[in-house]
Amino acid sequence: MKAIEIRNKYLKFFESHGHKIIPSAPVIPENDPSVLFTTAGMHPLVPYLLGEKHPEGTRLTDFQKCVRTVDIDEVGDNRHLTYFEMLGNWSLGDYFKEESIQMSFDFLTKELEIPVEKLSVTCFAGDEDAPKDEVSYECWKKAGIPEERIYFFGKDDNWWIAGEEGPCGPDTEMFYDTGKEPCSENCNPSCSCGKYVEIWNNVFMEYFKDKNGYSKLKQKNVDTGLGLERMTMLLQGKKTPYEIEIFAPVMEELEKMQKVDDIQSRRIIAEHIRSSMMIINDGGVPSNVDRGYILRRLLRRAIRHMNKLGIDLNEISHIIDVSVNALKEMYPELLENKENIKKVIIEEKDKFVRTLQNGEKEFEKAVKKAKQSGKNVIDGNIVFNLYETYGFPAEMTEELAKEQGIEVDNKEFDKLFKEHQEKSRLGSDQKFKGGLAATGDMEVKYHTATHLLNAALKMVLGEHVHQKGSNITSERMRFDFSHPAKMTEEEKQKVEDMVNNWIEQDMEVTFKEMPKEDAIKSGAECMFIEKYPDIVTVYSIGEVSKELCGGPHVTNTGKLGRFKIKKEEASSAGVRRIKAILE
Ligand code: SER
Repeated sequence: MKAIEIRNKYLKFFESHGHKIIPSAPVIPENDPSVLFTTAGMHPLVPYLLGEKHPEGTRLTDFQKCVRTVDIDEVGDNRHLTYFEMLGNWSLGDYFKEESIQMSFDFLTKELEIPVEKLSVTCFAGDEDAPKDEVSYECWKKAGIPEERIYFFGKDDNWWIAGEEGPCGPDTEMFYDTGKEPCSENCNPSCSCGKYVEIWNNVFMEYFKDKNGYSKLKQKNVDTGLGLERMTMLLQGKKTPYEIEIFAPVMEELEKMQKVDDIQSRRIIAEHIRSSMMIINDGGVPSNVDRGYILRRLLRRAIRHMNKLGIDLNEISHIIDVSVNALKEMYPELLENKENIKKVIIEEKDKFVRTLQNGEKEFEKAVKKAKQSGKNVIDGNIVFNLYETYGFPAEMTEELAKEQGIEVDNKEFDKLFKEHQEKSRLGSDQKFKGGLAATGDMEVKYHTATHLLNAALKMVLGEHVHQKGSNITSERMRFDFSHPAKMTEEEKQKVEDMVNNWIEQDMEVTFKEMPKEDAIKSGAECMFIEKYPDIVTVYSIGEVSKELCGGPHVTNTGKLGRFKIKKEEASSAGVRRIKAILE
């Protein structure tokens, strides 16, 4: 069975049991700056688990696009993925343990036709916070799992919570027996030898945890999650997700293209390209902070491993084609958005190539120094300099160093990095205050929004876009720019969404003083270069905008509110005018 067939079967099964199919939320959470990515199906549903009424009722099912990057460094082995799809069904104060367990059992044994002998389950053993889950035990027995394959474990194995605080509860987990020999007499589902693979987790969410401990929620919920790639792999009798149709065509193509044979590198490329495409498709942009930084790491890692395999980096476009082709049935939006995705990835690749060329010599020097000193450790300040001056992500320096048998001083780097962040924040705050003496709060916000609009127009319409004029009041902004044609509704929408996305990402606004020539060389946007003094200030917003400008600006884009284009019209020949507001 292909992954999409399993997904469809799942949704249809739960629909036939009274569940409404709801669409997947984006991998970049809407209105939630507290987490970087959607990590589980329950995540977008938290308000409803806490008691808010869901418009679709009390029984829901969906497939959720998820990104989890804690194990990014493990990708390349036979199981870790940064992007995965989670199938889920929810009861919001509706059914509880018995019905949930019966449905899971039926789906596994009747719909997916997994023999009962292949299944083991685990339940919560009980502690001072919650009792032993005898109910789930009885339900499994009644459904048809023999006693000897029902296990009890403590909180480490059978309790689920997203992070430190929030809705939570005991869970019951289902395991698939791969048929491997037991690793010992005590081999059981909590063992990591690979005999038992977890396939589904039903959380009985009736508790809420905060600093003061556990309390009962208003309602008893069920939250389940089934990892689609893993299930597909098991049902197809494959040993890794890279052998299923989601990845196999990309893996085969990489094998044809490579000059050096390395399966781990092929896996990293295939996995990270898929993750990156999904993130970009939902509005992600590579940058040096937060989500953008993770995306940058994923892409740069994929590119590094292309280098390692001796694959021409221009082939990245072809790899994207093959990957989109493998995924288009599951995610038609990737096909629709392919050109934009390619553009973002290729731009990042070009940036990275320049970075590598510039920093390589410095890196080599650092390696030599570390080896000569006999300590085999690269100093934190060198790692920081590589990051600050050459744009080497710290993790990459660490990885590259490791390949040469050298460590890096992470502690020192972290310290320097924090100091640097603090400094640039203080710097922008001061500037912010200075400017505010003459300029109102709203004007400052519009000013920053102007930079974002300029950057978004360039990305959507092309590099020919340049600022031709701007006028700001406390009520609105007006922005004139070079572009030969009326913007379509779609283009306007894209620009608006992009700006709002950047606002939501709460990107840091920083500035740097530098000689005018350097500013131009660095690719900073400017209107009339001859008007500027020899030493200029360059304002950067995350990685999306870089402009010569005197400020003032807000310190973080999150302060701007919602950006809305009110009008797009002709200004003069070849120049368009946008009027926009911040709500
Ligand atoms: N929230 C649980 C998990 O992520 C079940 O969906 O495993």
